[in-house]
Amino acid sequence: MLSTPNIIDIQDLTESDIITILDTAESFKEVNERRIKKLPTLRGRTIINLFLEPSTRTRTSFEIAAKRLSADAVNMTGSASATVKGESLRDTAQTLSAMACDLIVVRHKYAGAPRVLAECMDAHVINGGDGRHQHPTQALLDLFTIRQELGHLEGLTVGIVGDIANSRVAGSLIPALRAVGARPIVIAPPTLLPARPDVLGAEVSYSLDDVLPDLDVAYMLRIQMERSEGMPFPSLREYARFYGMNAARLAKARPEMKVMHPGPMNRGVEVSSDVADSPRAIVLDQVNSGVAVRMATMYLLLGGGDSGTAS
Ligand code: NCD
Repeated sequence: MLSTPNIIDIQDLTESDIITILDTAESFKEVNERRIKKLPTLRGRTIINLFLEPSTRTRTSFEIAAKRLSADAVNMTGSASATVKGESLRDTAQTLSAMACDLIVVRHKYAGAPRVLAECMDAHVINGGDGRHQHPTQALLDLFTIRQELGHLEGLTVGIVGDIANSRVAGSLIPALRAVGARPIVIAPPTLLPARPDVLGAEVSYSLDDVLPDLDVAYMLRIQMERSEGMPFPSLREYARFYGMNAARLAKARPEMKVMHPGPMNRGVEVSSDVADSPRAIVLDQVNSGVAVRMATMYLLLGGGDSGTAS
């Protein structure tokens, strides 16, 4: 069903895998609009959400996705897991393996932790965000939302604005956009770019105003204060002035340009409140698509289960 047993980096997926996930998510989206939003597809399968870094929407989205497919979903969070007692990731993996779980969704502060987990257990692994590295299901739900809103992906120009250096969302979204033939442009001050921006695989601009008229999507990122030491620019006000999306800027963009954000949003910094609440912002559509896309990844990785299908 997919060419890979795990979704750890977006590059684990071929273009055809990505399209299969998006197409499968379409049928799950329809299920999510029904009054009874449950399918028997993954009945009897066990999914553990191991979230060792804070998360609201990603963890909830995976849990709802697992439950809508009738899997037994168990949540383990940082403070409730034995890792705070010093257990190694390898021991945690072996313990969860011994409980015969089928799929683990892991969020971890260290880049590479989901790969380590996958190497020492038989269960399938989905990366729910590892450090500054990758967040592949976020990229998949973003592609799904863009395709739904703009009708296609190929040839679209997507500006990814803000804290590129610390963003695992950008780390997955850039290669995902390239895989489907879209054009990513990263837009940030030099202090929010990695030391070698040329390795990002995207065009680079230091000025949002310069590239704004070209954009089909403006994808705004949160400044990852928890991952940086000190303030990477003089003030939040100055950042908002040059890199924030606000009504004046929106008026200069293409009328069909959409504003996206992975959440949580810092209103007044990367997006002004009036823009965040306007129909041009499709942030809640992203959240809504997230459940269907995560259902699709679980369904496809677990081989569709023994009974029931998306249709
Ligand atoms: C992102 C994350 O955790 O990487 N949020 C999310 O998963 N919805 C982005 C962020 O925290 O800024």
